[in-house]
Amino acid sequence: MKDASPQPIYLTDYTPPAYLVDDVHLTFRLDPTATRVISRISFRPNPDAASKRFFLHGEGLKLISSRVDGSDIDVRDVENGIEADVPDAPFVWEAEVEIDPKNNTALEGLYMSPQDVGESNASGRDSLPAIKPMYCTQCEAEGFRKITYYPDRPDVMAPFTVRIEGDEPVMLSNGNPTGEGDGWCEWTDPWPKPAYLFALVAGDLVAREDSFTTMSGKHVDLKLWVRPGDEGKTAFGMEALKKSMKWDEEVYGREYDLDIFQIVAVSDFNMGAMENKGLNIFNTSAVLCSPETSTDANFERIEAIIAHEYFHNWTGNRITCRDWFQLSLKEGLTVFRDQSFTADVRSEAVARISDVIALRGRQFREDNGPLAHQVQPDSFVEINNFYTATIYEKGAEIIRMLKTLVGDDAYRKALDLYFDRHDGQACTIDDWLTVFQDSTGRDLTQFKRWYKQAGTPRLDVTENWDDGTYQLTFTQTTPPTPGQDVKEPFLIPIAVGLLGPNGDEVQATKVLEMTEGTQTFTFEGLSYRPTPSILRHFSAPVILTRETPPEERAFLFAHDTDAFNRWEAGRSLAKEVLVGLVTGEDTPQSLYLDALATMLRNDDLDPAFRALALQMPGEDDLAQTLFDAGVTPDPDAIHNAAETLKQARAEHLQDLLPRLMADMEVTEPFVSNAEQSGKRALGLGLLKLATRLDGGKAAQAQWDRADNMTLSLGALACLLDAGKAEGPLATFRERWKDDALVMDKWFMLQIMHADPEDAAATVERLTEDPAFTMKNPNRFRSVFGAFAGHPAGFHQKDGSGYRLLADWLIRLDPLNPQITARMSGAFETWKRYDADRQGLIKSELDRILATDGLSRDTTEMVTRIRN
Ligand code: ARG
Ligand code: ZN
Repeated sequence: MKDASPQPIYLTDYTPPAYLVDDVHLTFRLDPTATRVISRISFRPNPDAASKRFFLHGEGLKLISSRVDGSDIDVRDVENGIEADVPDAPFVWEAEVEIDPKNNTALEGLYMSPQDVGESNASGRDSLPAIKPMYCTQCEAEGFRKITYYPDRPDVMAPFTVRIEGDEPVMLSNGNPTGEGDGWCEWTDPWPKPAYLFALVAGDLVAREDSFTTMSGKHVDLKLWVRPGDEGKTAFGMEALKKSMKWDEEVYGREYDLDIFQIVAVSDFNMGAMENKGLNIFNTSAVLCSPETSTDANFERIEAIIAHEYFHNWTGNRITCRDWFQLSLKEGLTVFRDQSFTADVRSEAVARISDVIALRGRQFREDNGPLAHQVQPDSFVEINNFYTATIYEKGAEIIRMLKTLVGDDAYRKALDLYFDRHDGQACTIDDWLTVFQDSTGRDLTQFKRWYKQAGTPRLDVTENWDDGTYQLTFTQTTPPTPGQDVKEPFLIPIAVGLLGPNGDEVQATKVLEMTEGTQTFTFEGLSYRPTPSILRHFSAPVILTRETPPEERAFLFAHDTDAFNRWEAGRSLAKEVLVGLVTGEDTPQSLYLDALATMLRNDDLDPAFRALALQMPGEDDLAQTLFDAGVTPDPDAIHNAAETLKQARAEHLQDLLPRLMADMEVTEPFVSNAEQSGKRALGLGLLKLATRLDGGKAAQAQWDRADNMTLSLGALACLLDAGKAEGPLATFRERWKDDALVMDKWFMLQIMHADPEDAAATVERLTEDPAFTMKNPNRFRSVFGAFAGHPAGFHQKDGSGYRLLADWLIRLDPLNPQITARMSGAFETWKRYDADRQGLIKSELDRILATDGLSRDTTEMVTRIRN
């Protein structure tokens, strides 16, 4: 419920906990509406704390009894929990509380999934057998306080023993199994952990089992738990897990540390997945997959998330965060680690390009709007609102820059020191940087600005050529962000290579270290004026604002020896064409189209790379580019420009299509590896072009014969574009009505491919479908996430899109504040647009804020967006 005004908490207010915990023993007596949680916790005063106040977090708990050292004790209700008078010496706290998992719709703490049994299921028909709900938990960041009274802060770490009593066939918690009997079982996690890593799962589950032998020869049981019926979607996840375990040993020297590692798939989950010690809990969408039901993109995402959660065992669990201002300590580092894993097991160039597309699409968007914030914030109201692209993806870019600056060997040495020095501790970002300073001898004072200054730096470049001497002069400027008007210069690693007229490298990649606001770098002894390739491999998360002749981009698109910059050259050429189409200026369209044809025809290039080069810049990205150039973006005009260019590309590439499409056919059995998925990705890119020319003939043929979801869904998308999807959509629905994850695609696709003026009506129609439910985060996101991702549909002039989304956010907020708050980010770009649209959005934001009892999560987000 909404406080009078939600109060922020500040990094500078940090104080150590008054009491430390030596041991936790929990007993759960499971019951859907009245679960009892009995805790026995050994506390001792913290010698490093000034305060003696014994305070325990607690939220929505019914306290049945509380004792200290065996005697009943009175507790006082205070904000966010309780306090009590306790001895100034070690003591044992015991409490019994009651909680109601069944009515926990916020999906934080202990809850049940699915939540909708008896209302509507995936098919919308009552005849289907109801799925028996399972118990599960989500405690990060502050969900444990909804389970029992506890110092729910990450710097309190303790070993846990958990006894679960109930009649569920499978009952799991963290650590190793240490006992079981009729109607109970016990789990023991010997590794001290903060409460946010606690997990419990109970229900009717089946496991895919496997094992892994660690580098020191220890045997680890692996179990991937799913609902009966989902066993066929577990093979890929298990392989990904084993690959991740091996990779962390080989690349970081990190070995797993329990006898068993378990993953559970849950259909109602707010996020992708959670790294609870020894018992990772996953959104079904982030782990279950099969060729028939999942696309290559699903497989890739699943592999990355499994790796991510597994890697947290060392970066997050063994070494955790002192407080939530340090969130990027574990998330930035772990994202960087999962990105490196993907680069190693798939294609490095393709991985980097994909990461940058995601970074620009989500983090740059955030960093250039009202929600911009530091990677290490100074304050927050609701920590769940800070699981952002900035904390995660920009955090990962910072680690990447650090590695670029110190070099691979020094990076590995620093990581060894980090694990050595801080194992078992709750740390800060300063601790992390100190490790690098100590092990490399480098002063990282200026580098730390990446954590403390929000906003995306703009990097302007001018060049000078004088008789064998070539100079690049860079100027960095970072626009103001909320609460930060003035920015100091960043330390920017700028990877540069120089190319000769035939595309040969006259200067191999060199990392320039820019520390000043303006700085010149000189290259001597050149026999001709080179073409620069700047910011190779996207060596820093900045926006390059260099005026480059289109011919030079076309040259780099054809010749750059750095794969990322080669792709970047093509993308910026495409953007230039699109901007010209919107503003009515001249465009280098034919130059672009010829370069694109040459690139596509080049069979030496990885199909996955060609697919990325064929992908159009997004409409949202274009809106930001126009806004940066001082043009108020018109979403309809942008959409029309994109349509125009797509049509021109189809016509220009017409002769190429039959041969290339045939080449991209995969004849081997489906495997979602880099090679096959690259071919399918390019094949689908070409099919889109073909659809513009043949009205959907090729798409229909692909639809008819496709035996995997990647090709079916790709064909269906094209049929939607061609206006010939009615029959296929019905067939698809009938075939997949019982598969929630596939039905999510059915919802999403129809919105993504709706004409702008029909998008809101499509959303309305789909929310009336019996298979729609707002209680399932995946389903809600598949509709409203897709809508927010369709700028021309969402930003219709009459404000219908804004009103529709606001209506649903107001409806969802009392059930699930986290998802509501997150989805309100759809409005974060509002200040780019014209006064009419701004006025319409503003009144929707005000309407949301005026809602009675609006959650703290949504209040914070909408207030920040509105300001
Ligand atoms: N630590 C998890 C991950 O990155 C994310 C959990 C976030 N949950 C939340 N409610 N904010 O893997
Ligand atoms: Zn994470």
